[in-house]
Amino acid sequence: MDQQETAWFDKLLLQNKPGGSPGGHAEETEVVMNINSVELIYFSPTRTTKKIVEAIARGIHADGIRHHDLTYPSASVKQPHSCGCDLAIIGAPVYAGRLPETMISRFKPVKGHATPAVIVVVYGNRACEDALLELQDLVSGAGFIPVAAAAFIGEHSYATKEFPIAAGRPDLEDIQKAGAFGAMVREKVSKIIDSGHILPPRPPGNFPYKEARILSGVSPFVDENLCTGCMVCIPACPTSALREDDPPTIDKDLCIRCSACIKSCPDGAITMNDPGIRQIAAFLFKTCPDRKEPEIYMETEPLLP
Ligand SMILES: Cc1cc2nc3c(=O)[nH]c(=O)nc-3n(C[C@H](O)[C@H](O)[C@H](O)COP(=O)(O)O)c2cc1C
Ligand code: SF4
Ligand code: SF4
Repeated sequence: MDQQETAWFDKLLLQNKPGGSPGGHAEETEVVMNINSVELIYFSPTRTTKKIVEAIARGIHADGIRHHDLTYPSASVKQPHSCGCDLAIIGAPVYAGRLPETMISRFKPVKGHATPAVIVVVYGNRACEDALLELQDLVSGAGFIPVAAAAFIGEHSYATKEFPIAAGRPDLEDIQKAGAFGAMVREKVSKIIDSGHILPPRPPGNFPYKEARILSGVSPFVDENLCTGCMVCIPACPTSALREDDPPTIDKDLCIRCSACIKSCPDGAITMNDPGIRQIAAFLFKTCPDRKEPEIYMETEPLLP
């Protein structure tokens, strides 16, 4: 984020605080607004990405907000989905510096029809690497026009009490920043859409993207002594890897190690007790102790011919 963008963020954060805007009335911040309908399109097993795209949408103050949630197995049905809103907010978590494979395949039937899109990735306080660029390429390929991009931070899927990596994030500050980003999008993007000078954001990342490193043959462990048989975990799984046995069993081949079942279990009966994943969590806790902050990328001036 350059200095100008940082100043925007600070100003908008102040305006968003209860009690109103500094040096003026709320009406003074109102601008011509042509973003009436917003569609949120996201993949979010542990729901941090969902929280961020919702907070951005609240900052935009659109009249209508529709959800197209790609997280659950119903979204794997390859039915064409046409986006017919004024603006789409498209979000995904970062998996090993890339987009989750499941997100990419569920996004395939989505068609943008030149809809402007805000693209957002959420990562667990390590790094987003090539994921935001990959998301920009994915949504452009589907016919959206990316107009703004952001990387936010969410509690790491592998965070535990022992290794609380980015625990509790997005927190209030993140949510306020996401709202401020939404307000910035409303003000700046509606102007650039009106002027016709839409410039793509320039998110970080390299192409070819880094090699996707997928762990296989690993899945969480269900402790039968703690399991009460409530089956809350079953619908939380994005890939139907959990079977409704007593206690639930997990198909390792279907499991994408997203931790949604772990975070959904009210009795703490599911854990990622695989030594490899525990080692990763310990390593991340040790090597990424400092709080990272959200970053935004937005080009607002037309390029010189
Ligand atoms: C398989 C896997 C790989 C991940 N890789 C990264 C990574 O490369 N960098 C990072 O900072 N966080 C990484 N994370 C953490 C997630 O990006 C983070 O927890 C995010 O908030 C999860 O989003 P969700 O709540 O929408 O599922 C990874 C999580 C999983 C499950
Ligand atoms: S949510 Fe937890 S307690 Fe309930 S069935 Fe699943 S593992 Fe058992
Ligand atoms: S079983 Fe695997 S894929 Fe399903 S929610 Fe748990 S970690 Fe995610």
